Amino acid sequence: MKVTVSRKAHFNAAHRLYRKDWSDEKNQTIFGKCSNPHFHGHNYELVVHVTGIINPDTGYVIDMKILKDLIKEEVEDKMDHKNLNEEVPEFYDKIPTAENMVIVIYEALKPHMNPEHELAVTLYETPRNFVSYSG
Ligand code: NI
Repeated sequence: MKVTVSRKAHFNAAHRLYRKDWSDEKNQTIFGKCSNPHFHGHNYELVVHVTGIINPDTGYVIDMKILKDLIKEEVEDKMDHKNLNEEVPEFYDKIPTAENMVIVIYEALKPHMNPEHELAVTLYETPRNFVSYSG
């Protein structure tokens, strides 16, 4: 029997959605407010889901303390209160959309997970807009 355990986390970050090879006008048309040259922030909500078999010794799928610390080290410490375009190397050459962010977050967590566990990540950029990735 497999069970999914989930942990929520939160971080604030600034970004700008734009392509250097497009004019300001085209960036504005495609990305709208998120293309503001002066950057802007979002309150990101992250939900990390881990699916696996319950360990008969502990009754856990994964120790939540371990998952909490992993999210802090691999996501919050790298992105919280950062300018994603300028301070997070993964976005030096990648547009920091929620779609690209959720993959970056998944790829940061995955190597630290038990390979037998299934990982899925959901990222809310606003309370109504969210993206999910599970590999
Ligand atoms: Ni934005």
